Amino acid sequence: MRILILGGNGFVGRAVVDDALEQGAQVASFSRGVSGTPLPPGVVQLLGDRASGDYSALKTGEWDAVVDLSGYQTNEVDAAMDVLGDRVGRYVFVSSHAAYARGLPPGTDETAPRREPLRAADELTNETYGPCKVACEDDVLERYGDRATIVRPGRVTGPGDTASTVFYWVRRGAAGGRVALPTKPEQPLQFVDSRDVGRLVVQLITDARSGGYNAVGPFSTIAELIETSAELSGTTVDLVQVPRDAAPARFPLLEPEAEWGGRRRDPAKARAAGMSVTPFRQTVADLLLWDQDRGTPELDYGFTPEQEQQLLAAQ
Ligand SMILES: NC(=O)c1ccc[n+]([C@@H]2O[C@H](COP(=O)([O-])OP(=O)(O)OC[C@H]3O[C@@H](n4cnc5c(N)ncnc54)[C@H](OP(=O)(O)O)[C@@H]3O)[C@@H](O)[C@H]2O)c1
Repeated sequence: MRILILGGNGFVGRAVVDDALEQGAQVASFSRGVSGTPLPPGVVQLLGDRASGDYSALKTGEWDAVVDLSGYQTNEVDAAMDVLGDRVGRYVFVSSHAAYARGLPPGTDETAPRREPLRAADELTNETYGPCKVACEDDVLERYGDRATIVRPGRVTGPGDTASTVFYWVRRGAAGGRVALPTKPEQPLQFVDSRDVGRLVVQLITDARSGGYNAVGPFSTIAELIETSAELSGTTVDLVQVPRDAAPARFPLLEPEAEWGGRRRDPAKARAAGMSVTPFRQTVADLLLWDQDRGTPELDYGFTPEQEQQLLAAQ
């Protein structure tokens, strides 16, 4: 099996690369070669730039499937499809759970309504990212039909996750003590481990499956994340709920209650197609180890210890 991965050196891309290699596939990765991790031995690195439209490294070659992890707007996806045409057997587009309409109830599956498509945006924001993904999905489906596969991951985490979002709470739990929590402890989470996304994508290619798949993980809560991190680190925590407006508008993992249903999506179709399910506790344990290994770099948001102490003193 020959797989071309657009963005194989990125966070999710690397998990797809690793799984594909494990299944004995021949793997090539296309990117600028700027971010992410060095590719493992045996992976062919193809350099180019989707922003400037430099796809010259893809002008030759044939693959059983392409996995598009770096397509955010229709011009990027359309350009890749123009270049690759029928030299790829299947086009797997990695979209996002943000493609779905907001405010859906818990338990929705792949038939849930999506947001209105947006063909281009000057900037990708919370408002434009999901609609742009919808437009990309539509273009891929129109061009490849039965040979199109759409994967919609929820929030992805696992070793290699470079965003501060999950680590703020993992580290906070590990540190122990009184924890200022500007949301209800039962706020739902539904992380998916990057390794499970990799497993799903490669299995979908192997079995030539078409259509949409929710790549979402086990149900958990923000309290469970903090408490599991504490327990695995040998500490204990006391969660102290503080007012939402005590925290800045942008704060790790906080979401309005009206959107909590989006953290309870139905994973049945993807699991039936072979997606693995890393237990939540295992993911958290691996996050703690990975964070230590990389030297616990500074996070770019969340309370500072001083801010948190002040808030807790007022409770
Ligand atoms: N992470 C999540 O929680 C999450 C959730 C839902 C969906 N997704 C989707 O999953 C996909 C991968 O996400 P990620 O978090 O793994 O992203 P990431 O770590 O930022 O990786 C992005 C990849 O795209 C490449 N890239 C960026 N700009 C490029 C350009 N101009 N030309 C060519 N390649 C370029 C990067 O490599 P170079 O810098 O070397 O070019 C890298 O390999 C995205 O489509 C995202 O929407 C992610």
